[in-house]
Amino acid sequence: MNQRITILYFSPTGTTEKVLTAIAKGIDAPFEVINLTHLQARQQFQTTAFEKNDIVIVGAPVYSGRIPALFLETIADIKGIDANIVPVVVYGNRDYDDALLELKDFFEARGFTTLAAGAFIGEHSFTASVAGGRPDRNDLETAHQFGQTIAANIAAFQKRPLSVKGNDPYRQNPPAAPMAPETNETCNACGICAENCPVEAIDFKDYSIVDSTKCIRCCSCIKKCPQDAKAFTQAPIKAVQQKLIDNFSIRREPELFL
Ligand SMILES: Cc1cc2nc3c(=O)[nH]c(=O)nc-3n(C[C@H](O)[C@H](O)[C@H](O)COP(=O)(O)O)c2cc1C
Repeated sequence: MNQRITILYFSPTGTTEKVLTAIAKGIDAPFEVINLTHLQARQQFQTTAFEKNDIVIVGAPVYSGRIPALFLETIADIKGIDANIVPVVVYGNRDYDDALLELKDFFEARGFTTLAAGAFIGEHSFTASVAGGRPDRNDLETAHQFGQTIAANIAAFQKRPLSVKGNDPYRQNPPAAPMAPETNETCNACGICAENCPVEAIDFKDYSIVDSTKCIRCCSCIKKCPQDAKAFTQAPIKAVQQKLIDNFSIRREPELFL
């Protein structure tokens, strides 16, 4: 049996990547990594068909209850010829709304069979005061065991349809107003923000210039800055941060659909 195991993801602040890696390690077989976080990786991505026995563990963060559109656009032509999918979403302790259903439907429409699915919690992109440090050890142990369960039950899981939480039609969100992080005087021009920006919104010569029309508010630049030089200081984002802290600080646990 020539089986390909792949983790395929978009993960600006790295929580989705951690969860998917733990699941793949639980499957306990060599796996390939397709990381579509960076613009160049998405531009270079060449769609290959996945075949019988292949398992693709696909993951994305939840943005406003949905899967980030730029990720789905990149993989729009992906095909599964009797291949298996494990859709996984990672959300910041508020809710994942319709994101998991959207990801599952997307792959099933392209020929994949869903083996199992999961919704995990990651530190909120907007504030470390919500789900700070997650996925933690318990989350990653759950992810690892999830992988082990999948590996032990592939044949049985292929035979049954799987339902996940979510509504179709999916949640509709109004277009977000252009907004980008501000840069304070502690910036020492190391360039980590620009190198890691998934949409190349940060000027490569002057790191304080961020193109608000490109920014997807993923907060990669904020979380990765060693100087804490970047932040959203605008009132609407501050209000969202406070609302998250006030209403969504009670710990939620991963949900597995098996
Ligand atoms: C623009 C944006 C929208 C978000 N929307 C939600 C949401 O609807 N529900 C939620 O619980 N978390 C939400 N989050 C938080 C992320 O889903 C969460 O922090 C996730 O772990 C980030 O994944 P990553 O580390 O792979 O980038 C949002 C984050 C961003 C940047």
